[in-house]
Amino acid sequence: MKSGHSFHTIAVASLREYVAALQESGLDGIPVAMAGAVPAEAASPAQAAPKAGGAEAPTGELQRHDSLGQIRKELGECQRCKLAKTRKNLVFGVGNPQARLVFVGEGPGGDEDLKGEPFVGEAGQVLNRIITAMGLKREDVYICNVVKCRPPRNRDPEEDEITACSPFLLRQLRSIRPEAVVALGKFAAQTLLGTKEPISRLRGKFRDFHGIPLMPTYHPSFLLRKQGEGSMDSFWEVWDDMTQVLRLLKLPVPEKSRKR
Ligand code: URA
Repeated sequence: MKSGHSFHTIAVASLREYVAALQESGLDGIPVAMAGAVPAEAASPAQAAPKAGGAEAPTGELQRHDSLGQIRKELGECQRCKLAKTRKNLVFGVGNPQARLVFVGEGPGGDEDLKGEPFVGEAGQVLNRIITAMGLKREDVYICNVVKCRPPRNRDPEEDEITACSPFLLRQLRSIRPEAVVALGKFAAQTLLGTKEPISRLRGKFRDFHGIPLMPTYHPSFLLRKQGEGSMDSFWEVWDDMTQVLRLLKLPVPEKSRKR
């Protein structure tokens, strides 16, 4: 999927609609970074810690709230946007409700739509390899998307769809309150950080997402495309990003030999 939107644009263009969606979803404050009030600056993990009286006001931080079950129940047979008309299954998210690490993708594709589970198709196989390479299991982490229903023909999610869906993503993150978030691809990174910076510039540095260190990296589908072109460079860039995440989580970094 291509990306053409930033949450900043969305927040400015449809703030009222967004606030209404937030209220409906039970979030009691506009997420500071997503509303674009805080520039998506590079932040070291240490800087990403909540700062009393700093740019991140307490309402902008993710405090544990509803359970994932409650949030899923509230979504119900969601009809909040036009994707409801064409989806087969809503794809909520999968994994450990107390995960230390959450991966956020863009939106479900065809396989995910059929199964109701994120990252189960080709891109999912790549993500599974990344997770395994990190010494983790899929059940250890939590995996979800910016939008929960498949955009027709895998097009980019549109502003109104993100506006309707993103409060639930925020609530999921707020419920899990992970120690780190990995944004998979430009769409997830730009949406969560409220920026239009290209993923090639965003990746590789921790950013602050409501007091949680967020690492933008390439989307597994991009890795598949690059692999098809015979290049493994992006894989190693992703691996470099994941080693930073492992270090942040104080987990062992498995040795990988680079055969280019
Ligand atoms: N791509 C995504 O971004 N998410 C999925 O769940 C599957 C493919």
